[in-house]
Amino acid sequence: MLSDRAVTWIVFAAVLYLVLFVGGVGLIAMVSGAGGDPDDPVLVARGAVLYGEHCAACHGTNLEGQPNWETRNADGTFPAPPADETGHAWEHSDRQLFEVVRFGGGRFSRPGVKSAMPSFADELESADIWAILAFIKSRWPEEVRKEQRTRGLFSGPHLH
Ligand code: HEC
Repeated sequence: MLSDRAVTWIVFAAVLYLVLFVGGVGLIAMVSGAGGDPDDPVLVARGAVLYGEHCAACHGTNLEGQPNWETRNADGTFPAPPADETGHAWEHSDRQLFEVVRFGGGRFSRPGVKSAMPSFADELESADIWAILAFIKSRWPEEVRKEQRTRGLFSGPHLH
């Protein structure tokens, strides 16, 4: 039989292991900023509705973006790019996509480029933004999703 002391140590070690493991996973998720699981159907359905209300006017009801989105407008802005795999949203990490939506495109523009991508900080909660990103990512083919997952915190800092 195990002594009481041994049992206490085993329980202690198990609790310590659990705390470190859960904390570690949480920390990794925080640092990498990963969120918006495209395999979560409830989240994706919520994101689809919010996308229709807030994003479709510019990025298209079918995520197709605006015509000639790679050609600069006369006012120095660019038209809205597609949000599907034919655009370049997938080149950015989850965290960066989140920040573009939250703070607007201006924060990531190259010098001299004006951004027509508005900030949604006043309109959308963080959870709403993640739901929209889950919906957008759910529309990408698996190989594009795989590639996007490799994008780090600092990859593709500029939008154009
Ligand atoms: C008024 C038009 C407009 C609306 C509304 C809008 N966007 Fe944008 N968005 C743009 C433009 C234009 C860009 C291109 C970036 C730039 O020129 O700075 C952009 C860029 C982005 C990007 C960067 C990735 C890329 O492909 O360059 C993401 C992500 C994005 N938008 C998501 C959203 C989401 C999500 C919503 C809704 C919550 C939204 N946008 C609403 C105009 C808009």
